[in-house]
Amino acid sequence: MAEFMVVGVIGAGQMGSGIAQLAAVAGSDVWLLDKDDRALNSAKASITNSIQRFVSKGQMSKEVGINALARLKYTSNLEDLRSADIVIEAIVESEDVKKKLFAELDKIVKGSAILASNTSSISITRIATATKRPHQVIGMHFMNPPPLMKLVEIIRGADTSDETFNATKTLAERFGKTVVCSQDYSGFIVNRILMPMINEAFHVLYTGVATKEDIDAGMKLGTNQPMGPLELADFIGLDVCLSILKVLHDGLGDAKYAPCPLLVQYVDAGRVGRKRVAKRMTPQGGEKQPVG
Ligand code: NAI
Repeated sequence: MAEFMVVGVIGAGQMGSGIAQLAAVAGSDVWLLDKDDRALNSAKASITNSIQRFVSKGQMSKEVGINALARLKYTSNLEDLRSADIVIEAIVESEDVKKKLFAELDKIVKGSAILASNTSSISITRIATATKRPHQVIGMHFMNPPPLMKLVEIIRGADTSDETFNATKTLAERFGKTVVCSQDYSGFIVNRILMPMINEAFHVLYTGVATKEDIDAGMKLGTNQPMGPLELADFIGLDVCLSILKVLHDGLGDAKYAPCPLLVQYVDAGRVGRKRVAKRMTPQGGEKQPVG
């Protein structure tokens, strides 16, 4: 069984930074890679803040926090991932971009390494075709934010081996997560059910049935969800929601998954949700008004 002494995480956005934090807290040495230095700097700040919050709430010992921060290294050079036992990819939700990255990684990392994708919806089987190790490619789908959410959805591609599945499950459990297993069909389990609900909430807003406040309050209080669907979409990123709906629509071939025109228009206008605000913030904290 793999020990996962060294974990590589690619993409230092909202998901990758949380995954890197989990791996470091669980005792692995971690390389967090992004092509953008600003993303690396803000990941470093947000991981440090998050660990400090866990420590100040008494949910993590100071020693564990300090050791985790010392295990994290930041880079924009793919060659630094050479020693990784597993690489977890959390870059932009684009099949072409992910495949290009997996093809490069396949040449760089050691033969025994597992290549995992945190994709929300793209086929693991197809991503695996970009490599010469499809039996070692797997989906490891964390929920947002990774340090807090209890679930990891593991997706088996057509060629994923039992050994890869078992090792990845063990790692997720070491991160303190509960695992569910999905076969490789568009949207897997969670987004296959969640995204049509978010899309329908946009339709309800688009057709003037109700205000955004009433849609969210209705679903929060009426179905006992911690966040309304529009607030949740804002949190996930409207661009991410749109691309998942397109994958569901293309992959499952059913018109019911067609993205609502209002969602499309918001994304076209750059109103993608909270993360847009984070990216526009000055180092002093500047603008904080949520968008989308
Ligand atoms: P994000 O936009 O916050 O971060 C993506 C990061 O990847 C950016 O910092 C970007 O500079 C970097 N990046 C893009 N292409 C790269 C490349 N070729 N090499 C290195 N770095 C690259 O995105 P987010 O929200 O963290 O999502 C990442 C992945 O996780 C996507 O596949 C998404 O579908 C998935 N996901 C997102 C969830 C969410 O709630 N946002 C939940 C679960 C999965």
